[in-house]
Amino acid sequence: MVTSNQIILSLVLILSLMTSIIKSQSKDKTIYIEGTIFDHWPEYNYNFEKTSPGSSVKSTGMVKTVLNSTTKVPDLASFDITTSPNKLGTMQYPDLFKYHFTSNVNAPATKNSGKNLPMKIQFVLNLDESSGVYTFFNQTFFPIDNLGYDVDPSFRIYKQGSSYHNFHFCVKMNSRFTYNGGEVFNFKGDDDLWVFIDEKLVVDVGGIHPAQDGSVNLDSLGLVKNKVYPFDLFYCERHTDGSTISIQTTIQTYCAWYDYCGVCGGTGAVCCNAKTNCDDGDLCTIDSCPTPNLQFPDLASVYKNCSHVLKDCSPANKCQINSCDKTTGNCKPEALKCPDRSDECLRNTGCDDLTGCKYESICTGSCDKKGVCVEGKCQQKSSVDCSAELDGSLCKTYSCNSTRGGCYSEIKCKPQPGQICDVASCNELDGVCNITTLPANECNCGCKPNFCQKSYCVRNSKTGLFECSLKDADGIDDGNACTEDICDPIAEKITHVSYGNCTGCMSCNTLSGACESHDDVCDDFNACTENVCIKVEIGKGECVATNTTCIPTTNVDKCKNYLCDSKNGCYQTDVVCPNSGNCKVGYCDSKVGCLLKPRVCNTPAFCIVAECDETVGCISFERRCASSDPKCKVGVCVNGTTPEDGECESVNYDPKPFVCQTAAVVSTAVIAGVTVAGAVALGVFIYGGKRGYDYWKESRSISMSSAVTSPMYVPSANAAENPLYIPDGEL
Ligand SMILES: *[C@@H]1O[C@H](CO)[C@@H](O)[C@H](O)[C@H]1NC(C)=O
Ligand SMILES: *[C@@H]1O[C@H](CO)[C@@H](O)[C@H](O)[C@H]1NC(C)=O
Ligand SMILES: *[C@@H]1O[C@H](CO)[C@@H](O)[C@H](O)[C@H]1NC(C)=O
Ligand SMILES: *[C@@H]1O[C@H](CO)[C@@H](O)[C@H](O)[C@H]1NC(C)=O
Ligand SMILES: *[C@@H]1O[C@H](CO)[C@@H](O)[C@H](O)[C@H]1NC(C)=O
Ligand SMILES: *[C@@H]1O[C@H](CO)[C@@H](O)[C@H](O)[C@H]1NC(C)=O
Ligand SMILES: *[C@@H]1O[C@H](CO)[C@@H](O)[C@H](O)[C@H]1NC(C)=O
Ligand SMILES: *[C@@H]1O[C@H](CO)[C@@H](O)[C@H](O)[C@H]1NC(C)=O
Repeated sequence: MVTSNQIILSLVLILSLMTSIIKSQSKDKTIYIEGTIFDHWPEYNYNFEKTSPGSSVKSTGMVKTVLNSTTKVPDLASFDITTSPNKLGTMQYPDLFKYHFTSNVNAPATKNSGKNLPMKIQFVLNLDESSGVYTFFNQTFFPIDNLGYDVDPSFRIYKQGSSYHNFHFCVKMNSRFTYNGGEVFNFKGDDDLWVFIDEKLVVDVGGIHPAQDGSVNLDSLGLVKNKVYPFDLFYCERHTDGSTISIQTTIQTYCAWYDYCGVCGGTGAVCCNAKTNCDDGDLCTIDSCPTPNLQFPDLASVYKNCSHVLKDCSPANKCQINSCDKTTGNCKPEALKCPDRSDECLRNTGCDDLTGCKYESICTGSCDKKGVCVEGKCQQKSSVDCSAELDGSLCKTYSCNSTRGGCYSEIKCKPQPGQICDVASCNELDGVCNITTLPANECNCGCKPNFCQKSYCVRNSKTGLFECSLKDADGIDDGNACTEDICDPIAEKITHVSYGNCTGCMSCNTLSGACESHDDVCDDFNACTENVCIKVEIGKGECVATNTTCIPTTNVDKCKNYLCDSKNGCYQTDVVCPNSGNCKVGYCDSKVGCLLKPRVCNTPAFCIVAECDETVGCISFERRCASSDPKCKVGVCVNGTTPEDGECESVNYDPKPFVCQTAAVVSTAVIAGVTVAGAVALGVFIYGGKRGYDYWKESRSISMSSAVTSPMYVPSANAAENPLYIPDGEL
C-alpha cells in the first residue's frame, strides 16, 4: 500500500534532488586539438620524400624524451645518420629537423634551406557517447591539398596513382588538459607521431612507415588529479603514398590561449611575417611581429604594432662613435670628435682607445694658477698665491712675473734711499716696520756701498770703534731658491735666472730649490686615467698614465656596473639582469650577480589558471575541474573569496545519463517505501521520454554488470527493459 504521505515525501525528496542540479552541465560533444600545420616541400627539406623509408616499422627514440621547454617542440636525440633511430626513422638531414615544427618561412627558396609555410589547423574529435571516447579517424588525411605551396600548380608534383595530394606536412599542437584519472590516448597512423604530456614523451611513433600504433594510459604517468598539464602533439606526413591517422582518446584537451592569428599556442607566424608585414624599409632596425599573446581587433592592427628595434651599434672603442648606415644596415665606425673644453682652458691632445679623449691645460705659464680657469682664461697667481708658494712672511711683498720666472718677494722695510743711518727692522708677527736712525758714529763709518751692497757699522770689540761692513743689498735675493740672483753693480741691474735643473714633469721647489715630482703637470684631464710623474733620473721626471680602477678593492657589489667617463670619472649603474625567455625572470644578488627565478603569474580567482608559457609569458585561462565520478558528474569550478580558497566540485550531468538518475529515484523510492510500480511511475514522471531512456540504454553496456536478489534491482527477463535497474555500487 502506498499512503499519500509516503508519495508526498518521495516527491519532496525527488524535487529537492532536482533543484540541487543548479548548473546545466554536460560532457563536451566535440573537442578540438588545434595548432599549426607546416607545409614542407621536399626540395626545401630532403627529410620529406627524398629518401627511401628505412623500414615499415616505427623508429622509437628519435626525439629527446623531454620537450624543449623553450621552443615547445621536440629536439632530435641524435645527429648520427648512420645508425638508428635516425637511419630507421629516415631522418637523413638532422639539421633540418628543427624546421619541421618551427616557422622558417623567410628561408631562401633553395635546396635544403628548410623553408616551410605555417598555416592553422584544427582536428575535430567527436565524442562517442556510449564509450566516452573522443575519436578522429581518417584514412585519406590530406588537409592541405592545393594549399600552402600547392596554391601554385607547379608545386603539386607528388601524386598517388593518378590523383594528386599534398603529402608533405607537419602538425604541431600545444594544448592543455585537466587530469581526471583513467584517461587513455591511442594512435594509429603514419608517419612520425610524438605526444608529450607534462613535457615528457609518452607516445613515440617516429619515422616514415605505414600505419603504426602507439598509446598511453595516463594513470601510469603519476599525474595529480585536478592539475592542469600541457598536452603537446607532433605529427608529420613525410612520404607518399598514404596518410592515415586515427586518434582515440578520453583526454579532454583544450586550448589555453590563442595567438592573434587565432592559432592555439601559436607564434603569430601564420598571419604575420616580419619580413613582409613589418618591414619599415630601414635596415638599421630589427623588425618583428608583435608578441603572439597580444590581442588585436584585426590584422591591420597587428601590422601596425610591429616592433622596430634599433640595431646596437655602440662601439667598444672609446674614440669611436658608430652610426648605422640605413642603406646597408651596417654599423659605420666614425672617429669621435673630442668635445671642445677650451672653456676649461684645456686643449685636446688626442684620444686613447681605452680611456677616451685626452687634454692638456693651456695654463702652463709660470704665473698661471694651475687648473683655475674663468671663461677660458687662465687665472694668474696673485700676491696671496705667491706668498703661499714662497715663505709667506709678513715682512715681504709678493708678486708674480712670468718674465722673472714666477713668484718673487721683496723686503718691505727698507730705509729711504740715501738715509744711510736708518736701520730698518720688521716684526715677523705683525709685519710692522720699525725704522730707527742710528747715531752718526754708528752709521757713517766710511762705507761706500755700491748698487749691490748694503753697509753696516760694526763695533770692533778691541778698539771700540765702528768699522764698515758690507752685505748684499736688500732685494737681490728674491726668495726663490730656483733662480740664481745676479746683481750687476755697474749696470745697476738685478737679474734672476732660473737654474733649469728640473726637467720633464719635475719642477723646482721655490723654497728649497729641490726638484720635485709634480703629478698635476701630467694631468691629461681624462678622468679615467691616473697620471703620475715618475723620477727617471736626477732632476728629470716622466709622466705615466694608468687606467683608473673604478672597481672597489673590497665589498664589490655585483649588482653595479663600475664605469668610467673621461670627463666625469667613475660612475655606477645598476646591473640589469636579463630575463631568460619569457618564464625566467632575471634578478640581482649583490654577492653573486645575476640569477634567474621563475616568473610568477598572478591569478585573479581560483577558477582562472595563471601560468607562464615560454612562448608568450603569463597566460590565464579558465580552470577545468576533474570529476569525482566522470560517468555521472562533471567537475565544476567554484571561486572562493580569495584566489587560494576556491574549489572543484562535482556536479551531476544535466541531463543526467539515465544510469545515474535511476539510482537516485529508486533509492528515494525505497526510503519512501513505494512499490516498484510507484517507483516506475515516478521515474517516468521525472525522466520519462525518449531522451532519458537513450541515456540509460547507452550507459547500459558499461554499468549493467551484476545484480542483486531483489526483483526490483534485476533486469527483467528481456534484460534491458527495466528502466529502474540499479547497477551495483550505485546506491
Ligand atoms: C631548446 O631549443 C633551443 C633553440 O633551438 C636550444 O638553444 C636549446 O638548447 C634547447 N634546449 C635544450 C634543453 O635542449
Ligand atoms: C579526411 O580528411 C580529408 C581532408 O583532410 C577530408 O576531405 C575527408 O573528408 C576526411 N575523411 C573523413 C572520413 O573524415
Ligand atoms: C597597436 O598600435 C596602436 C597605435 O599604433 C596602439 O594605440 C595600440 O595600443 C597598439 N596595441 C597594442 C596591443 O600594442
Ligand atoms: C716683470 O719683470 C721684468 C723683468 O724683471 C720687468 O721688466 C717687467 O716690468 C715686470 N713686469 C711686471 C708686470 O711687473
Ligand atoms: C725699534 O728699533 C730700535 C732699535 O733696534 C729699538 O730700540 C726700538 O725699541 C724699536 N721700537 C719698536 C717700537 O719696536
Ligand atoms: C742647480 O744647478 C746649479 C748649477 O748647475 C747647482 O749649483 C745647484 O746646486 C743645483 N740645484 C739643485 C737643487 O740641484
Ligand atoms: C685599461 O682598462 C681596460 C678596460 O677597462 C683594459 O682592457 C686595459 O687592458 C687596461 N689597460 C691598462 C694599461 O691597464
Ligand atoms: C571566477 O572569478 C573570475 C574573476 O572574477 C571570473 O573571471 C571567472 O569567470 C570566475 N569563474 C567562475 C567559474 O565563477
